[in-house]
Amino acid sequence: MKITLTTQPKQKPDFSKLGFGKYFTDHMLVMDYENGAWKEPEIVPYAPFAIAPATNILHYAQGIFEGAKAYKTKEGKITVFRIDDNFTRMNKSATRLCMPNFDAKVVKDALFELIKMEKDWIPTEPGTALYIRPTLIANEEVLGVHASKKYRFFIILSPVGSYYAHGLQPTKILVEEQLVRASIGGTGEAKCMGNYAASLMGGEIANSKGFDQALWLDSSEHKYVEEVGSMNMFFVIGDEVVTPALVGSILDGITRRSCIQVLKKYGYKISERRISMDEIVDAYDKGLLKESFGSGTAAVISPVGTISYKGKDMVINGGKMGEITSFLYDKITGIQSERYEDEFGWVTEIK
Ligand code: COI
Repeated sequence: MKITLTTQPKQKPDFSKLGFGKYFTDHMLVMDYENGAWKEPEIVPYAPFAIAPATNILHYAQGIFEGAKAYKTKEGKITVFRIDDNFTRMNKSATRLCMPNFDAKVVKDALFELIKMEKDWIPTEPGTALYIRPTLIANEEVLGVHASKKYRFFIILSPVGSYYAHGLQPTKILVEEQLVRASIGGTGEAKCMGNYAASLMGGEIANSKGFDQALWLDSSEHKYVEEVGSMNMFFVIGDEVVTPALVGSILDGITRRSCIQVLKKYGYKISERRISMDEIVDAYDKGLLKESFGSGTAAVISPVGTISYKGKDMVINGGKMGEITSFLYDKITGIQSERYEDEFGWVTEIK
């Protein structure tokens, strides 16, 4: 693989004050697609690249991405979490967006080289990681609305802390009652850029009212919980942990999958099913809504302290992180940092 080293290594940020996605490492991976084939991946200095103003990613949003994380353990081992699942999902998203699939093995090997080069950028403070952002964009200079014939795949790396500025403090979520993020048959299940653009207005409205995020409901009845946009959702109702079923408009989150697997293995009652806001309000009124949390690569496991729906603020577990949420946070971050045994085979060491 061709590697071009930067001549101007950057000064590293203060790893105890990272926030999310604000700093980028010295190098990135690029791989272009042209004439029906992928070229070799290359590592180049992290820098802006030129895109023609007519390029179709800029006009028609034919673009997808992923989010994964790398860690440095206490013993100095470099690891990644469930990275194969990311590349499998990315190829699925690519298919939905009429983009060419790539060889996950080639990309993974190149990514591992990149991470090894950038090992000093992996933060080790609790709650931090090196965020991996694989991205695939249409790169043909043409204005006709059709699938591009040229693509650019790239991976950038960013040392990150907590996704939310308030860290593990429970989030406040506003149920969005009018706008929709995705509909069945649309692209909601793909990790495509347009889904995030569609979610911005709901997010801004929620922020302007003092909430962290908007909670999306289904597009046809405005009744069933979907996801938050940056997180899948879980609710603990009585002794049942419920997460919305993957009906086609919800992201098949890798952290969501991890939560389900851990809960199943440890004997919790976990259901993937449709869950309506009426059911959640009813459970809250009866004192049965014990906990709620979101899951995501960036958000990890984030407790939800308040859900606001139709003007009613439901404060969950006294606005504090609940027992099952804490258990999952501890278990999953413990496996990621090798505090716990990797009993599910999710961690790969980069050697
Ligand atoms: C992730 O959790 O990695 C995501 O992609 C969600 C968001 C930051 C866009």
